Amino acid sequence: MRVAVFSDVHSNLEALERCIAHAHTHGAERYACLGDMVGYGADPEGTLELLMALPGLIAVRGNHDESLFRDPGDGAPRGVREASAWTRTQLAAAQLEFLNRLPYVVREAASTYVHASAYEPTRWEYIRSAEQARRCLAAADSPLTFIGHVHETRVFYETAGGAIRDFTPASGEVIPLSPRSRYLINVGSVGQPRDGNAATGYVLYDEARAEVTFHRLAYDYESTARKIRAAGLSPLYAERLAWGR
Ligand SMILES: [Fe+2]
Repeated sequence: MRVAVFSDVHSNLEALERCIAHAHTHGAERYACLGDMVGYGADPEGTLELLMALPGLIAVRGNHDESLFRDPGDGAPRGVREASAWTRTQLAAAQLEFLNRLPYVVREAASTYVHASAYEPTRWEYIRSAEQARRCLAAADSPLTFIGHVHETRVFYETAGGAIRDFTPASGEVIPLSPRSRYLINVGSVGQPRDGNAATGYVLYDEARAEVTFHRLAYDYESTARKIRAAGLSPLYAERLAWGR
């Protein structure tokens, strides 16, 4: 079984279509979306339509999905609040219902799927340090955990001796998964990458071969940016697509 795992689509339909098409031609049989399906972008309805039709979809909630139904608090940027309010007006009732019912965590076979961290997932922690990764791996208690939220690709792993190591994977790099290690895979962001690379991206997990491959793909972010401006959303969300920031 090959599972295409991706996160933080943020209503960027062009980027999502690019990833899904690539995953399909590379043998993906199932799809896992790690939340933040909406927010920032101008295509929430088309994004949800495509996502909800994916075969064997595994889906968890992100903070932006949740902010449609719960006030994100005074700390949230004004643009995020505006995008949430606007997104609510764009979605069909069944799409809102789908988002409102998303679980925080899904565990299947040897894998855990969560947006931010398996350790207190409702806190939306940004995992950047070895200590945070250790807490998440301990809470997930499974050989393989997939996360998003940070919008940067990263692999953390726990060695047999208990040390946490990490590295930034290259596009196309095949990463073999040792049965003696536990892995925390940050799949990056489909729709708003923030590692200085404008390319969209996802991870293909090959269960039978026990390996993951990160893919980064060029897409037409100028079309996406035009739609964001035309919808009257924050122009920053359009500009940053070209910067990958
Ligand atoms: Fe996000």
